[in-house]
Amino acid sequence: MKSKLKRMFQCQSCGYLSPKWLGKCPDCGEWNSFVEEKLDINLQKGKVTEISKPVSIASVELSVSDRLSTGIGELDRVLGGGVVRGALILIGGDPGIGKSTLLLQATDNMAKNYGKVLYVSGEESLSQIKLRAERLNISSENLFLLSETLVERIIECAEEQKPTLVVIDSIQTVYTEEAISAPGSVSQIRESAGKLMAFAKSYGVPVFLIGHVTKEGAIAGPRILEHLVDTVLYFEGDRGYAYRILRSVKNRFGPSNEIGVFEMTGAGLQEVENPSKIFLSEHAAISGAAITSTVEGTRAILTEIQALVTPSNFGMPRRNFIGVDYQRVNLLIAVLEKRGRVNLAGADIFVNVVGGLKITEPASDLAVISAIISSFRETPLPPRVVIFGEVGLSGEIRAVSGTELRLREASRIGMKGAIIPKGNFEGLKEKFNIEITAVESINELIEIIFN
Ligand code: TYD
Ligand code: MG
Repeated sequence: MKSKLKRMFQCQSCGYLSPKWLGKCPDCGEWNSFVEEKLDINLQKGKVTEISKPVSIASVELSVSDRLSTGIGELDRVLGGGVVRGALILIGGDPGIGKSTLLLQATDNMAKNYGKVLYVSGEESLSQIKLRAERLNISSENLFLLSETLVERIIECAEEQKPTLVVIDSIQTVYTEEAISAPGSVSQIRESAGKLMAFAKSYGVPVFLIGHVTKEGAIAGPRILEHLVDTVLYFEGDRGYAYRILRSVKNRFGPSNEIGVFEMTGAGLQEVENPSKIFLSEHAAISGAAITSTVEGTRAILTEIQALVTPSNFGMPRRNFIGVDYQRVNLLIAVLEKRGRVNLAGADIFVNVVGGLKITEPASDLAVISAIISSFRETPLPPRVVIFGEVGLSGEIRAVSGTELRLREASRIGMKGAIIPKGNFEGLKEKFNIEITAVESINELIEIIFN
């Protein structure tokens, strides 16, 4: 069949196709995202090669997926216990956050333990990579570098070399001959990733794809890649801090939302095995600081939430929150005013999670509220007390999951007390050597702590 080229406009955010240019994508709602692309329509249709037959679930054999260790404990844990053979793994993050550094360190370990590893870079020249490798003290003979951006040639090279692992740095720089548009466009990313996927699955070789995040916080062409790949990891962190957090947002081979904590040092990324200690290292019992325990994947991490409440000099009070959900904190402030009778109307309120961690759990509600009241009243919270619980609209404190995990971490770190929801207290099976106070409403909390 002769392939036909067709000019179409494609949304660079979600891949939606339109015969004419559109200002707003009807599918994902993105503005100004359409770019003209020449597409081979025969490619788009997909070819049926083999007819699949349904099989009984009982007859499906479980392949024991043996995992390869990356030699970096935190990375292994985020992956669910190491790299699964044949897995396609996407690592996204802002430029300069440390994606190349992390993978260079991991591939060096793997090259030492398992043999050949292929590191394909379309971004940096070989001498640039070598320079970085010197700094990281990397010298494995089995770590092979390839400077290439054509995906067909990358795969050809990999087929010939038979490495145990392939890294593509980055997916935005590779292109395939079969798509006509420019590298970095949605159709190029999708076609190239599809080819690498086929390679990974048919040879059982894991492939890491590095992806850059756009300003809006999504990997360019994100939705297309996120459902294609087996695992999606995001590397986050404030560049002002040395701490980096690697988070799994999707994982077909392990728990998602698991996090790994790293510190960027002069000699590359170092694992942080005890994150609670770090996030609390500078904690002092001053007003406006509350300690909470947040569950990330399979472990709990203790962190400090700070609030600053000051009288506003403007007609419109300022509300600025970092590391916590904006809507959620505004809701909590409203609950505090209405149910707790704390008058915050004329106050500027700032909330910050120390260390650059982003908390999405409602279990941190109680700590946020405690920090705000503490700053408002200029009264420090009791020292070495961890606070967690979800706050409802009527000011009630709701039970949260993972109580024992949170309390265990708190007692390990040396907390003396905990304030938790009554609902959790009643179901508590384990004994902890910390003093636990159960609260039912925010009024009760105010009563206990501040009066
Ligand atoms: P890099 O891995 O190049 O980021 P990405 O691939 O995500 O774009 O990281 C680059 C940053 O890390 C750069 O700002 C320098 C810093 N860095 C260190 O602080 N120490 C090191 O040992 C290395 C290799 C990099
Ligand atoms: Mg890089």
